[in-house]
Amino acid sequence: MATMKAIRIHAFGGPDVLKFEELLIPEPVEGEFLVKVEAASVNPVDYKIREGKYRAVQADKLPLVMGRDVAGIVATLGPQANDQLKEGDAVYAMLGLDRGGYAEYAVVKATEATRRPASADAIAAAAVPLAGLTAWQGLFRYGELREGQRVLIYGGSGGVGHFAIQFAKAKGAHVIAIASGAHLDFVRSIGADEAIDYQKQRFEDIVRDVDLVYDLIAGETQERSFAVLKRGGILVSTLAEPDQEKARAHGVRALRYTVNENAAELDEIARLIDAGKVSPKVSKVFSLAEAAEAQQYLAEAHPEGKIVLRVAE
Ligand SMILES: NC(=O)c1ccc[n+]([C@@H]2O[C@H](COP(=O)([O-])OP(=O)(O)OC[C@H]3O[C@@H](n4cnc5c(N)ncnc54)[C@H](OP(=O)(O)O)[C@@H]3O)[C@@H](O)[C@H]2O)c1
Repeated sequence: MATMKAIRIHAFGGPDVLKFEELLIPEPVEGEFLVKVEAASVNPVDYKIREGKYRAVQADKLPLVMGRDVAGIVATLGPQANDQLKEGDAVYAMLGLDRGGYAEYAVVKATEATRRPASADAIAAAAVPLAGLTAWQGLFRYGELREGQRVLIYGGSGGVGHFAIQFAKAKGAHVIAIASGAHLDFVRSIGADEAIDYQKQRFEDIVRDVDLVYDLIAGETQERSFAVLKRGGILVSTLAEPDQEKARAHGVRALRYTVNENAAELDEIARLIDAGKVSPKVSKVFSLAEAAEAQQYLAEAHPEGKIVLRVAE
């Protein structure tokens, strides 16, 4: 039987629970295909799952191959996989929680994958799916952001934030980004009209009348957000359920959401990348065997944009 290298956890814990193992190559069933993975990205959800801090993944789901994002080449089509894709196509996908991308091969559902941007290599393409879809759904599906509106984005320099800034700008919104001082030039370079250093300034002293707050930080930053929203505005968070009483008192809507897999939205994002309107930033590339170092680096170093694992040359 053919085997592959993969990074798998058998228990929750620190980086040492990530095991570099030889596993059987999984087989696609109906509606799925097998992708030869070239690159996989690292997201905060990966180390949250590893630490046992992600509610949707409990011990009964272990052992689990880590990783939600892949870019690679379609190797085998399962029955009725997808009439849009064929063997040899270069694709990218956000995987469901039941499978992993830190592996030489990954089974991908037809509803999760699409052709990757023609202008992006595998490393840049792997950086996109989960963070890009999170930003897309947060701004447009839940935040209802439209041209000409004002959006305030927290965590603007990170994986999700750097896509959110670029998507909002491409939509024609006025973008105000919050980041630490070292990343202000970066957030301006990708389209922020205004950049605020949260270590030096309180955003509520400067910002007023925003249509949308996009919150990637939560905590007291989220609490302070209500004051800067217009009546009728929306607060969207990836992290904490906002206080509904405060939302009502300020005449705004406020919600938390979880990203989901969506090939059609990845197509729209690919078009923006190929049009030169969005550019994934990859700060550092690690090998598959270095997954533990990669997760540590993402958790501790506050990198700009994304961290990616190179799985194949
Ligand atoms: N609900 C969902 O479906 C969903 C989906 C994706 C992500 N998320 C969550 O959303 C968050 C952002 O994800 P990501 O991929 O963008 O993470 P990331 O790449 O690690 O970026 C985090 C950002 O937050 C900033 N930051 C870190 N510590 C901070 C602090 N104490 N105060 C203020 N800013 C701080 C960092 O920039 P500076 O160094 O400039 O501060 C960085 O830009 C994560 O917690 C992730 O788990 C949720």
